[in-house]
Amino acid sequence: MELRALVEQAKQRGDRAFFERILSPEQGVKALLQALESLGRLPADFEPAPLVRLAQHSHEDVRLAAVKALARLENCELLSFFCERLSVETTTLVRRELVSAIGRLRTPDAIPVLAQSLTDPDPKVVVQAIRGLMVFRECAEVQQALHALMTHPSELVRSAVQHALGTEPRSTPKQPHPHSPNALKNLAIGADALTVLRCLPDESVHLTFTSPPYYNARDYTLYPSYEAYLDFLTEVFREVHRVTKEGRFFVLNTSPVLVPRMSRQHASRRYAIPFDIHPRITALGFEFIDDIIWAKPAPSAKNRNGGFYQHRKPLGYKANSVVEYVMVYRKATSKLIDWNMRQYPDEIVDASRVLGKYEPTNLWQIAPSADPVHPAVFPLELAAQVIQLYSYKGDLVLDPFAGRGTVGRAAMLLERYFLLIEKEPRYFEYAQQVISEGSLLATDYPPRFVGFEEFERMVSEGLH
Ligand SMILES: C[S@@+](CC[C@H](N)C(=O)[O-])C[C@H]1O[C@@H](n2cnc3c(N)ncnc32)[C@H](O)[C@@H]1O
Repeated sequence: MELRALVEQAKQRGDRAFFERILSPEQGVKALLQALESLGRLPADFEPAPLVRLAQHSHEDVRLAAVKALARLENCELLSFFCERLSVETTTLVRRELVSAIGRLRTPDAIPVLAQSLTDPDPKVVVQAIRGLMVFRECAEVQQALHALMTHPSELVRSAVQHALGTEPRSTPKQPHPHSPNALKNLAIGADALTVLRCLPDESVHLTFTSPPYYNARDYTLYPSYEAYLDFLTEVFREVHRVTKEGRFFVLNTSPVLVPRMSRQHASRRYAIPFDIHPRITALGFEFIDDIIWAKPAPSAKNRNGGFYQHRKPLGYKANSVVEYVMVYRKATSKLIDWNMRQYPDEIVDASRVLGKYEPTNLWQIAPSADPVHPAVFPLELAAQVIQLYSYKGDLVLDPFAGRGTVGRAAMLLERYFLLIEKEPRYFEYAQQVISEGSLLATDYPPRFVGFEEFERMVSEGLH
């Protein structure tokens, strides 16, 4: 008979000898782990002695499983045993399980040891202790201990304590989560991204997908320094964070850029934009979710190793760049992604399902797109993939550096709404042309292209 079935029968018979045997320290580690795993729910009168012995076993996996089983007994008489083990246990995972077991006892007698665990060097143990103390959060001593953690160096601890004390920054959205202001639906604004973004209401956008200007690699942008360029992007992304709805995504396409050398006496310079901007984005309150590599076919890359191909001298090698980065961030929140999904009615969820083939890895092979007018567009397929994976039908998708409006076109094709900003008049006019090719698509909000003055008028009337 299977072990689990034997265990069930022994539990019903109250057969202590059976448990003494299968949980005897004489058994090998594998057998003990199997036995511990098969225990399942334990009756309140289960004799803890064999588990207490195994909680002191030399193998950490056995100790861990034994403490887990003991925790399920929720037996307050075990408190002093747990405390004693906690004082000598060196393995983080087991310490965390001990703290969890102590918390589960829900007894005020556990407060001192839980408070002591707030100084554990492992943040995960501290978080576990915070959870245990939450039951007693009305108690002044606990309040004081939790407040002292508000400046803890670990972000995990800080966010757990904010949650415990109810001091998390709470958003007060003006509209239900799936809604966005009608005035912004299928709207393109020909103006500076930062100026426009500053006029947009808080929490009005569901997804942002953008590819910003490439520092000074192309003629359409000039910044006094790389630092000034990063500062500019940071300000734009600060606004993106503000206008993004709770827990929603910001997807950023960038790649290192090469600023060509001025003369033969100078070297060219590469700037690692995705890596330099990343810490600034997370500091704004975006949580890093994924690093997707957009891989292009080798022939599409600019050849950088012609010289090396000839001379073959080490140090002279330069890789041809066939990838760009599609970094995925989520506006940080304590709410799980399921919360975001639950905000939509079933019809929208069903209609938005990503059916058929999709790319399960973070390596997306997509051919680049060349455009007769704009020098740096991303392909419609890339925009469509991002929009399909990170938004629902009827959502508002923002691109503050819209170029020819690829995001707008993809949003319409996928029955989302776009909100585009593009500063260069020639690209803005071109975007109008590109989008109108797609506007034969049925939409309840026909695309509108407005200049800054018209947008200012809309703002003064209120962007509802
Ligand atoms: C890399 S391109 C984006 C191309 C776009 N993804 C497409 O597929 O067409 C960046 C765009 O940002 C625009 N841009 C640069 N600075 C801007 C600013 N301050 N405000 C708005 N747009 C800006 C540029 O004119 C350029 O069209």
